[in-house]
Amino acid sequence: MEVIIVRDYEEMSTRAAQIAIAALQKKPDMVLGLATGGTPEGLYAKLIEAHKNDGLDFSNVVTFNLDEYVGLGPDHEQSYRYFMNDKLFNHVNVKPENTHVPDGLAVPLLASCAAYDEMIRQAGGIDLQVLGIGRDGHIAFNEPGTSLGSRTHVTGLTRETIEDNSRYFASPDEVPRFAVTMGIASILDARKCLMLASGASKADAVRATIEGPVTSQITASALQMHPDTVVIVDEPAAAQLERADFYRWQDENRHLIADKL
Ligand code: PGA
Repeated sequence: MEVIIVRDYEEMSTRAAQIAIAALQKKPDMVLGLATGGTPEGLYAKLIEAHKNDGLDFSNVVTFNLDEYVGLGPDHEQSYRYFMNDKLFNHVNVKPENTHVPDGLAVPLLASCAAYDEMIRQAGGIDLQVLGIGRDGHIAFNEPGTSLGSRTHVTGLTRETIEDNSRYFASPDEVPRFAVTMGIASILDARKCLMLASGASKADAVRATIEGPVTSQITASALQMHPDTVVIVDEPAAAQLERADFYRWQDENRHLIADKL
Protein backbone atom coordinates (compact mmCIF):
# COMPACT_ATOMS: atom_id res chain seq x y z
CA MET A 1 0.00 0.00 0.00
CA GLU A 2 1.16 3.48 -0.80
CA VAL A 3 -0.14 5.83 1.88
CA ILE A 4 -0.36 9.53 1.06
CA ILE A 5 -1.25 11.92 3.87
CA VAL A 6 -2.57 15.30 2.76
CA ARG A 7 -3.78 18.39 4.61
CA ASP A 8 -7.49 18.33 3.89
CA TYR A 9 -10.39 17.20 1.71
CA GLU A 10 -9.44 19.60 -1.08
CA GLU A 11 -5.91 18.29 -1.32
CA MET A 12 -7.17 14.68 -1.12
CA SER A 13 -9.45 15.37 -4.09
CA THR A 14 -6.65 17.05 -6.06
CA ARG A 15 -4.20 14.17 -5.54
CA ALA A 16 -6.89 11.63 -6.43
CA ALA A 17 -7.81 13.56 -9.58
CA GLN A 18 -4.16 13.64 -10.66
CA ILE A 19 -4.02 9.84 -10.44
CA ALA A 20 -7.34 9.33 -12.24
CA ILE A 21 -6.52 11.85 -14.98
CA ALA A 22 -3.09 10.32 -15.61
CA ALA A 23 -4.69 6.87 -15.91
CA LEU A 24 -7.31 8.19 -18.33
CA GLN A 25 -4.75 9.93 -20.49
CA LYS A 26 -2.63 6.80 -20.61
CA LYS A 27 -5.58 4.56 -21.48
CA PRO A 28 -8.52 6.52 -22.95
CA ASP A 29 -10.68 3.39 -23.12
CA MET A 30 -10.04 2.46 -19.51
CA VAL A 31 -12.52 0.70 -17.25
CA LEU A 32 -13.08 2.96 -14.27
CA GLY A 33 -14.57 1.67 -11.03
CA LEU A 34 -16.51 4.35 -9.18
CA ALA A 35 -17.83 4.94 -5.67
CA THR A 36 -20.59 7.11 -4.23
CA GLY A 37 -20.74 9.09 -0.99
CA GLY A 38 -19.38 12.40 0.19
CA THR A 39 -15.75 11.29 -0.12
CA PRO A 40 -15.34 11.10 -3.93
CA GLU A 41 -17.54 14.13 -4.75
CA GLY A 42 -14.55 16.48 -4.81
CA LEU A 43 -12.69 14.11 -7.13
CA TYR A 44 -15.68 14.02 -9.50
CA ALA A 45 -15.89 17.84 -9.49
CA LYS A 46 -12.23 17.94 -10.53
CA LEU A 47 -12.77 15.39 -13.31
CA ILE A 48 -15.65 17.53 -14.62
CA GLU A 49 -13.38 20.59 -14.48
CA ALA A 50 -10.66 18.73 -16.42
CA HIS A 51 -13.25 17.70 -19.03
CA LYS A 52 -14.60 21.26 -19.42
CA ASN A 53 -11.30 23.14 -19.27
CA ASP A 54 -8.76 20.70 -20.71
CA GLY A 55 -10.89 18.42 -22.87
CA LEU A 56 -10.41 15.31 -20.72
CA ASP A 57 -12.17 12.73 -22.87
CA PHE A 58 -14.56 10.14 -21.45
CA SER A 59 -16.00 9.03 -24.79
CA ASN A 60 -14.36 5.59 -24.65
CA VAL A 61 -14.42 5.11 -20.89
CA VAL A 62 -16.48 2.31 -19.37
CA THR A 63 -17.55 2.65 -15.74
CA PHE A 64 -18.75 0.24 -13.07
CA ASN A 65 -20.07 1.43 -9.72
CA LEU A 66 -19.56 -0.46 -6.51
CA ASP A 67 -23.05 -0.68 -5.13
CA GLU A 68 -26.73 0.28 -5.06
CA TYR A 69 -29.55 0.20 -2.53
CA VAL A 70 -32.06 -2.61 -2.96
CA GLY A 71 -35.45 -1.13 -3.82
CA LEU A 72 -34.34 2.25 -5.15
CA GLY A 73 -34.70 2.89 -8.87
CA PRO A 74 -32.62 5.28 -11.01
CA ASP A 75 -35.12 8.13 -10.57
CA HIS A 76 -34.98 7.99 -6.78
CA GLU A 77 -32.83 10.93 -5.65
CA GLN A 78 -31.05 8.80 -3.05
CA SER A 79 -30.21 5.99 -5.45
CA TYR A 80 -26.58 5.66 -6.40
CA ARG A 81 -27.46 5.70 -10.11
CA TYR A 82 -29.06 9.11 -9.56
CA PHE A 83 -26.00 10.29 -7.59
CA MET A 84 -23.61 9.26 -10.36
CA ASN A 85 -25.67 10.89 -13.10
CA ASP A 86 -25.93 14.05 -11.03
CA LYS A 87 -22.33 14.27 -9.77
CA LEU A 88 -20.40 13.05 -12.81
CA PHE A 89 -22.01 11.33 -15.80
CA ASN A 90 -24.30 14.21 -16.86
CA HIS A 91 -21.34 16.61 -16.94
CA VAL A 92 -18.79 14.68 -19.00
CA ASN A 93 -18.93 12.96 -22.38
CA VAL A 94 -19.18 9.38 -21.09
CA LYS A 95 -21.69 7.34 -23.10
CA PRO A 96 -24.66 6.49 -20.85
CA GLU A 97 -24.65 2.91 -22.15
CA ASN A 98 -21.04 2.57 -20.96
CA THR A 99 -21.94 3.40 -17.36
CA HIS A 100 -22.95 0.56 -15.04
CA VAL A 101 -24.46 0.68 -11.57
CA PRO A 102 -25.88 -2.48 -9.95
CA ASP A 103 -29.65 -2.65 -10.41
CA GLY A 104 -31.37 -2.36 -7.04
CA LEU A 105 -34.73 -3.26 -8.59
CA ALA A 106 -33.61 -6.44 -10.38
CA VAL A 107 -35.53 -9.66 -9.74
CA PRO A 108 -34.07 -12.16 -9.16
CA LEU A 109 -31.36 -10.11 -7.50
CA LEU A 110 -28.83 -12.89 -7.15
CA ALA A 111 -28.82 -13.61 -10.88
CA SER A 112 -28.20 -9.93 -11.57
CA CYS A 113 -25.26 -9.98 -9.11
CA ALA A 114 -23.62 -12.81 -11.02
CA ALA A 115 -24.33 -10.99 -14.30
CA TYR A 116 -22.65 -7.85 -12.94
CA ASP A 117 -19.40 -9.71 -12.21
CA GLU A 118 -19.59 -11.23 -15.68
CA MET A 119 -20.07 -7.79 -17.30
CA ILE A 120 -16.95 -6.51 -15.53
CA ARG A 121 -15.03 -9.53 -16.76
CA GLN A 122 -16.27 -9.05 -20.32
CA ALA A 123 -15.24 -5.41 -20.24
CA GLY A 124 -11.69 -6.58 -19.53
CA GLY A 125 -11.65 -5.95 -15.78
CA ILE A 126 -11.42 -2.71 -13.84
CA ASP A 127 -8.27 -0.66 -14.43
CA LEU A 128 -8.70 1.81 -11.58
CA GLN A 129 -11.15 1.35 -8.70
CA VAL A 130 -12.06 4.40 -6.61
CA LEU A 131 -13.08 3.58 -3.03
CA GLY A 132 -14.29 5.37 0.07
CA ILE A 133 -14.36 3.74 3.50
CA GLY A 134 -17.11 3.50 6.09
CA ARG A 135 -16.67 4.09 9.82
CA ASP A 136 -17.04 0.33 10.29
CA GLY A 137 -14.19 -0.30 7.85
CA HIS A 138 -16.35 -1.28 4.89
CA ILE A 139 -15.41 -0.72 1.26
CA ALA A 140 -18.41 -0.66 -1.06
CA PHE A 141 -21.10 -2.19 1.20
CA ASN A 142 -18.88 -5.04 2.39
CA GLU A 143 -19.88 -4.82 6.03
CA PRO A 144 -17.90 -6.47 8.87
CA GLY A 145 -17.97 -10.25 8.51
CA THR A 146 -18.24 -10.26 4.73
CA SER A 147 -16.07 -12.97 3.18
CA LEU A 148 -12.84 -11.60 1.78
CA GLY A 149 -13.53 -13.94 -1.14
CA SER A 150 -16.94 -12.41 -1.87
CA ARG A 151 -18.18 -11.43 -5.32
CA THR A 152 -21.12 -9.15 -6.09
CA HIS A 153 -23.82 -10.03 -3.58
CA VAL A 154 -26.77 -8.79 -1.54
CA THR A 155 -26.01 -7.56 1.98
CA GLY A 156 -27.71 -6.02 4.98
CA LEU A 157 -26.40 -2.68 6.24
CA THR A 158 -25.00 -2.14 9.74
CA ARG A 159 -26.43 0.32 12.23
CA GLU A 160 -23.40 2.65 11.70
CA THR A 161 -23.87 2.63 7.94
CA ILE A 162 -27.59 3.33 8.21
CA GLU A 163 -26.87 6.19 10.65
CA ASP A 164 -24.16 7.66 8.43
CA ASN A 165 -26.21 7.44 5.27
CA SER A 166 -29.39 8.76 6.90
CA ARG A 167 -28.02 12.28 6.37
CA TYR A 168 -29.20 11.99 2.77
CA PHE A 169 -32.71 10.80 3.72
CA ALA A 170 -35.59 12.49 5.56
CA SER A 171 -35.14 10.02 8.44
CA PRO A 172 -33.07 6.92 9.30
CA ASP A 173 -36.22 4.82 8.79
CA GLU A 174 -36.13 5.64 5.08
CA VAL A 175 -32.61 4.27 4.54
CA PRO A 176 -32.90 0.93 2.72
CA ARG A 177 -31.72 -1.97 4.89
CA PHE A 178 -30.25 -3.98 2.02
CA ALA A 179 -27.90 -3.26 -0.84
CA VAL A 180 -26.26 -4.92 -3.82
CA THR A 181 -22.50 -4.59 -3.62
CA MET A 182 -19.41 -5.71 -5.43
CA GLY A 183 -17.54 -8.13 -3.19
CA ILE A 184 -14.05 -7.93 -1.80
CA ALA A 185 -12.67 -10.39 -4.35
CA SER A 186 -14.35 -8.37 -7.14
CA ILE A 187 -12.61 -5.23 -5.84
CA LEU A 188 -9.23 -6.94 -5.43
CA ASP A 189 -9.40 -7.95 -9.11
CA ALA A 190 -9.01 -4.29 -10.11
CA ARG A 191 -5.56 -3.53 -11.49
CA LYS A 192 -5.21 -0.50 -9.25
CA CYS A 193 -7.21 0.65 -6.22
CA LEU A 194 -7.46 4.22 -4.98
CA MET A 195 -8.98 4.53 -1.54
CA LEU A 196 -9.83 7.96 -0.12
CA ALA A 197 -10.68 8.94 3.45
CA SER A 198 -11.38 12.30 5.00
CA GLY A 199 -12.34 13.41 8.48
CA ALA A 200 -11.80 12.32 12.08
CA SER A 201 -14.73 9.90 12.02
CA LYS A 202 -12.71 7.67 9.67
CA ALA A 203 -9.49 7.68 11.73
CA ASP A 204 -10.08 4.36 13.53
CA ALA A 205 -11.13 2.56 10.35
CA VAL A 206 -8.12 3.98 8.47
CA ARG A 207 -5.73 2.83 11.20
CA ALA A 208 -7.25 -0.67 11.20
CA THR A 209 -7.17 -0.83 7.40
CA ILE A 210 -3.54 0.17 7.01
CA GLU A 211 -1.88 -1.03 10.20
CA GLY A 212 -4.19 -3.69 11.61
CA PRO A 213 -4.42 -7.36 10.65
CA VAL A 214 -6.17 -8.45 7.46
CA THR A 215 -9.63 -9.38 8.69
CA SER A 216 -13.19 -9.69 7.46
CA GLN A 217 -14.12 -7.52 10.47
CA ILE A 218 -12.55 -4.54 8.64
CA THR A 219 -13.09 -5.47 5.03
CA ALA A 220 -10.94 -2.57 3.73
CA SER A 221 -7.94 -4.32 5.33
CA ALA A 222 -8.08 -6.81 2.45
CA LEU A 223 -6.46 -4.05 0.38
CA GLN A 224 -3.21 -4.99 2.16
CA MET A 225 -3.24 -8.03 -0.13
CA HIS A 226 -3.63 -5.93 -3.29
CA PRO A 227 -0.41 -5.31 -5.22
CA ASP A 228 -1.19 -1.74 -6.33
CA THR A 229 -3.28 0.26 -3.88
CA VAL A 230 -2.90 3.96 -3.15
CA VAL A 231 -4.60 5.32 -0.03
CA ILE A 232 -5.02 9.09 0.23
CA VAL A 233 -6.05 10.30 3.69
CA ASP A 234 -6.35 13.79 5.09
CA GLU A 235 -4.77 14.78 8.42
CA PRO A 236 -7.86 14.14 10.58
CA ALA A 237 -8.38 10.69 9.02
CA ALA A 238 -4.65 9.92 9.44
CA ALA A 239 -4.56 10.95 13.10
CA GLN A 240 -4.35 7.38 14.49
CA LEU A 241 -1.65 6.11 12.11
CA GLU A 242 1.45 5.02 14.03
CA ARG A 243 3.75 5.13 11.04
CA ALA A 244 2.54 8.46 9.65
CA ASP A 245 6.07 9.91 9.65
CA PHE A 246 7.35 7.10 7.46
CA TYR A 247 4.43 7.47 4.99
CA ARG A 248 5.07 11.22 4.80
CA TRP A 249 8.80 10.75 4.30
CA GLN A 250 8.21 8.24 1.54
CA ASP A 251 5.71 10.47 -0.26
CA GLU A 252 7.96 13.54 0.01
CA ASN A 253 11.01 11.70 -1.30
CA ARG A 254 9.49 9.57 -4.02
CA HIS A 255 10.56 12.12 -6.64
CA LEU A 256 14.20 11.22 -5.91
CA ILE A 257 13.74 7.88 -7.64
CA ALA A 258 10.94 8.86 -10.05
CA ASP A 259 13.19 8.58 -13.11
CA LYS A 260 14.25 5.06 -12.09
CA LEU A 261 10.76 3.65 -11.72
P1 PGA B 1 -18.80 8.69 2.68
O1 PGA B 1 -19.11 7.14 2.70
O2 PGA B 1 -17.91 8.94 1.52
O3 PGA B 1 -20.14 9.37 2.50
O4 PGA B 1 -18.16 9.02 3.98
C1 PGA B 1 -18.03 6.26 2.55
C2 PGA B 1 -18.52 4.83 2.59
O5 PGA B 1 -19.44 4.52 3.34
O6 PGA B 1 -17.94 4.00 1.88
